[in-house]
Amino acid sequence: MFVSIIQDIGITSLVSGGLALILVIAQRYLNDYGDCKIDINGKRLITLKGGSSLLNALSENQIFIPSACGGKGSCGTCKCQVLEGGGPLLPTEKPLLTTKEMTGNVRLACQIKVKSDVRIHIPESIFNIRRFQGVVSKIEDYTYDIKGVIITLTEPETIDFKAGQYVQLETPIYAKVRQKVGRAYSISSDPGNDRQIQLIIRYVPEGICTTWVHQYLNEGDQISFTGPYGDFFIRDTSADMIFVAGGSGKAPIKSILEYLSRVGTTRRMRYLFGARTCKDLYLTGEMHAFEQVFDDFEYIPVLSKPCPEENWQGRIGYVMPVFPELITDPANTEAYLCGSPAMIESVKKALIELGVPKDRIYYDSFG
Ligand SMILES: Cc1cc2nc3c(=O)[nH]c(=O)nc-3n(C[C@H](O)[C@H](O)[C@H](O)COP(=O)(O)OP(=O)(O)OC[C@H]3O[C@@H](n4cnc5c(N)ncnc54)[C@H](O)[C@@H]3O)c2cc1C
Ligand code: FES
Repeated sequence: MFVSIIQDIGITSLVSGGLALILVIAQRYLNDYGDCKIDINGKRLITLKGGSSLLNALSENQIFIPSACGGKGSCGTCKCQVLEGGGPLLPTEKPLLTTKEMTGNVRLACQIKVKSDVRIHIPESIFNIRRFQGVVSKIEDYTYDIKGVIITLTEPETIDFKAGQYVQLETPIYAKVRQKVGRAYSISSDPGNDRQIQLIIRYVPEGICTTWVHQYLNEGDQISFTGPYGDFFIRDTSADMIFVAGGSGKAPIKSILEYLSRVGTTRRMRYLFGARTCKDLYLTGEMHAFEQVFDDFEYIPVLSKPCPEENWQGRIGYVMPVFPELITDPANTEAYLCGSPAMIESVKKALIELGVPKDRIYYDSFG
């Protein structure tokens, strides 16, 4: 009896061990795509071992496609044209692509696996995006959940960017977080200072990058990022401008205003900043100071839920009802919006209803 139980256990262990071995061997061979080639714009050829995402394959070769969500398939910034070898469109890609993009072979680089030779087309400007190393020279608390971080560049020592663009911070492995991630942060400083960049980072509970910045990053630490990315910069026209921001959405608009104050402008500008209570306001004095610098500029903070003890004397409610008063010539107005996806959507809708042309509404959605 005892001998037969031992025999049974032995046979079961042998069978399951054999199956596990077959699985490992099968996985090894099934996922072995061999060497694959990526032809970029018909000008550059990369050879790599197949199996990684197109996004990672390119970044390992120092080609940095924007990837604001870090490859989670939620931002849609990693779009590129895959002319051959991309395989069928995936369900994870469809929600982020328009019909025109789908028929034009536009794909999400973070979702496609390189399993065979691939031919892609990317804008030439992407070749200017690179990796930077720097040192954290200053960390300031702006509010209970927003910090300003100044990075002094070390390699290379300067950066060329347009006011309004963003970089992607690369987090290290820290505490219980065993994966490195990349996250997008708008540069909040003037491009006139090309040796430093400032970022404004709001803490997201449980967020990988913001927890690292708020709880683990110290002045003097090394930091790396890629960039610059994005097309959220002011258009060179004479149209009126309305800026609308919430939370850390103040970052790129601060950069734009600092840039404009240096080069000068006579354009009519209004800046609405939406927050919940007085505790969510920051850099208010600095923003009002621009009223003395520009010919026609006004900064208007609007609080949705000011606490009675704060004795708030400013505007109360949401930013949208203020538009008709501030936007005097909608057809000749450019709008620059920055903040949460929900805020961007409702602001865009209200602006279009008022008569601001859809193609003059520019935004960075911090989703
Ligand atoms: C173009 C662009 C520019 C950006 N610029 C800035 C900037 O200047 N300053 C800034 O603070 N942020 C900015 N962001 C947002 C930033 O990239 C990160 O998404 C954010 O900081 C959260 O990163 P995390 O790694 O801490 O959180 P994750 O680890 O990515 O997320 C953790 C959890 O929180 C949720 N979550 C993620 N983001 C938010 C959010 N904003 N609010 C609520 N829940 C969230 C996720 O769904 C997830 O469940 C920008 C985003 C984009 C696309
Ligand atoms: S990196 Fe965000 S969708 Fe691909």
